[in-house]
Amino acid sequence: MQSFQLHERAATVPTNSYQREDWQKGYESVETESNYWIDDVEGQIPAELHGTLFRNGPGLLDVNGHRIHHPFDGDGMISAIAFRDGRAYFRNRFIRTAAYLEEQKAGKILYRGVFGTQKPGGWLANAFDLKLKNIANTNVIYWGGKLLALWEAADPHRLDPYTLETLGKDSLNGVLSDGEAFAAHPRVDPSCDQDGGAPSLVNFSIKPGLSSTITIFELNPDGKVVRQHAHSVPGFAFIHDFAITPNYCIFFQNPIAFNPLPFVFGLRGAGECIKFQPNQPTRIIVIPRDKSKSVQILETHSGFVFHHANAFEQGNDVYIDSICYESFPEVEPQSDFRQVDFDALKPGQLWRFHLNLPDKTVSRQLVEVRCCEFPSIHQQRVGRPYRYLYMGAADGDTGNAPLQAILKIDLESGVRQLWSAAPRGFISEPIFVERPNSIDEDDGWVLTLVYDAAHHRSDVVILDARDLHRGAIARLHLQQHIPYGLHGSFTSELFTPNC
Ligand code: CO
Repeated sequence: MQSFQLHERAATVPTNSYQREDWQKGYESVETESNYWIDDVEGQIPAELHGTLFRNGPGLLDVNGHRIHHPFDGDGMISAIAFRDGRAYFRNRFIRTAAYLEEQKAGKILYRGVFGTQKPGGWLANAFDLKLKNIANTNVIYWGGKLLALWEAADPHRLDPYTLETLGKDSLNGVLSDGEAFAAHPRVDPSCDQDGGAPSLVNFSIKPGLSSTITIFELNPDGKVVRQHAHSVPGFAFIHDFAITPNYCIFFQNPIAFNPLPFVFGLRGAGECIKFQPNQPTRIIVIPRDKSKSVQILETHSGFVFHHANAFEQGNDVYIDSICYESFPEVEPQSDFRQVDFDALKPGQLWRFHLNLPDKTVSRQLVEVRCCEFPSIHQQRVGRPYRYLYMGAADGDTGNAPLQAILKIDLESGVRQLWSAAPRGFISEPIFVERPNSIDEDDGWVLTLVYDAAHHRSDVVILDARDLHRGAIARLHLQQHIPYGLHGSFTSELFTPNC
């Protein structure tokens, strides 16, 4: 009887595309800071690929052996890969935030993390300590001649783009006060109507409370803030990302409740005090980029969104493509993220929302059931109708699992292409880079860092965006691993040594 049950189970449960131990090793801290020309390359780096890929993410998952509670609490580390004449130069460096320097000197955790990292000594040592540690670990952008590391709850850190040396915090020329929030998800409008067609970097900040304040910032190509307007919206807002169109900034206000008491009393991190409200709608907040026009709030089904792929307008209609979760997985104080039960969590899936602004109605359509995250598109299509979308995805076409594959979707024809690094590779956010002088929207490359558990190192993988099925056209073996990162960006500016 027992053997029959085993047999039946084997027939219905698909084999995992990965080993948990392999996935866990990608969360080991990296201790070294390096710079070198990458000589160990399989395939050919395209000679036309010219510029610098910057990546950010937690580089340390512990402080002197004391584990942090969640990767989101890890100190930010920048990796830079500069491409020139078919060669590539690598650098990585920790961001010298004030708290990083203090903790490295002390050799222990001195600050509580938003996602549950506590100082040693139990709740008594943590109660009433509400100081935030600006860990600068979420994104990195090059704009207005500045390389900025971003973390959504506080101000950016400025870095030297050649050496990655930390130059200090950046106030955007006096616009931000010390510690003031500046989100980690700026969007670049490639052609801003209000600025005569010049590009504009659009970002926001959230001040959460019983009602929340959303502030919009727009920066011109010189890095100067040219528009800034604040709006109060009802309820607590936990908003990580947004989307833009030529006329609007669009936010999804996830249905959550926040009870700060366990945080105040030292029992939980602030991020562990968020409770998903499955019976309440998600609010869609539409803020016109022209500040003289009024804000609209629409409602749709309950759900949780971290990231949006893109949005665009057609007449009075607005379309927005977003990765949605059925609920927000609560981070439990006693849990270990390395032991997460993937099968118990719902996957992120891609939905298209259709907003009819005059009627204030929203309809939605499921576009992709495969577990996916980290969307990327052609930079000239941001806020505009677009055809091709690239995302991190699970190797299997159903269920929830670590991201091991890159999925390309042709949103016009519905055709999919999948490139997978399974069973021993784990991907990070893909970034689309257009080929110089290209015409077709998918004429370019997809760049991603892949953690290779077989060698405990990371590879920079270059895919041909037109045909992911060609496989990696170049695989650049780094001399060490890079822990799973969060976000990054590509600039056509080249930051390599002069040799
Ligand atoms: Co993000």
